[in-house]
Amino acid sequence: MNVGIIGTGLLGSAVATRLLSTGHTVTVYNRTKEKAEPLKRLGASVVESPKKVSEKSDLVITIVKDASAVESIAFGSDGIIQGRHDGLVVADMSTINPVSSRKIAEKYAQYGIQMIDSPVMGGPSLAEKGQLVVMIGGEKTAYEKCKAVFDSIGEKTFYIGANGAADSMKLAMNLQIAILALSISEGIILAKKSGLDPLLFLEVLNSTYFKTGMSLLKGPKMAKGVFEPSFFLSVMQKDLDEINYTAKEFGASLPVARLANELYQNAVKEGFGKIDYTGIMAYLEKLKATT
Ligand SMILES: NC(=O)c1ccc[n+]([C@@H]2O[C@H](COP(=O)([O-])OP(=O)(O)OC[C@H]3O[C@@H](n4cnc5c(N)ncnc54)[C@H](OP(=O)(O)O)[C@@H]3O)[C@@H](O)[C@H]2O)c1
Repeated sequence: MNVGIIGTGLLGSAVATRLLSTGHTVTVYNRTKEKAEPLKRLGASVVESPKKVSEKSDLVITIVKDASAVESIAFGSDGIIQGRHDGLVVADMSTINPVSSRKIAEKYAQYGIQMIDSPVMGGPSLAEKGQLVVMIGGEKTAYEKCKAVFDSIGEKTFYIGANGAADSMKLAMNLQIAILALSISEGIILAKKSGLDPLLFLEVLNSTYFKTGMSLLKGPKMAKGVFEPSFFLSVMQKDLDEINYTAKEFGASLPVARLANELYQNAVKEGFGKIDYTGIMAYLEKLKATT
């Protein structure tokens, strides 16, 4: 299968790298072309527009920041629809809200293109190892056509339901991540302020039932103040916007999601957007004690 990747940021580059290393023919486009260039050395063909990607691909995976970026690469000038052909499937791996996702899928359908939502859990390093968890929303037959590609990048794939269903599931997942990062941050801060070694705090936590992948893998880096990005804090803040928007659309009351968004929004305003999302700890540490 010829696969196209549109958006070669942190996640898109890793997905493209994995597909190349597992023998797929990969065509890539990125708005800022320099970010796609390193993939050329791994065998990708770098082209000038989303249209050129779709012309050359059976499956186009879009991995861009938000819903407006998804729309612009799909329907803008030289967009994906301009390169449409029989059998083309588009899979959107960006984290967007289910309402926008459904509208985008309906618009694609008007051009005879099947779109599925295929958000993932796991960051760039798991993508490169083919260990993502993939969630699929949309026509099952469209997913089945491309199953081999998803099997290359994911160790587990869940078919969730109709268009937008996988995006809802993904947002419910990212809510866990956003809040967990706050919780571990505050634990480390409290331990440090009490004169305790934050690494000892993590060792105790990780000896209990309450340990998580985050406390095991990201925790030690947080304790040392290392926030090299695998997922930008600004992108997590965008996800919290999407979570709160979805809650409003579907009538869910999520007070913690609302408070979390305020904290991440303030962190972005204070210049913490381009570090890892776990850097929310660095922002919290700068706040003045309230008691
Ligand atoms: N990183 C992760 O661990 C992870 C995991 C799961 C899901 N995701 C989701 O995957 C998506 C990409 O995340 P990322 O971590 O790769 O972010 P990133 O490194 O910031 O990359 C963002 C990508 O979106 C492109 N983009 C942004 N606005 C655009 C627009 N208006 N038109 C065209 N392209 C546009 C960027 O192009 P430029 O280079 O030109 O700016 C870049 O390719 C997000 O929706 C994110 O929530 C990320």
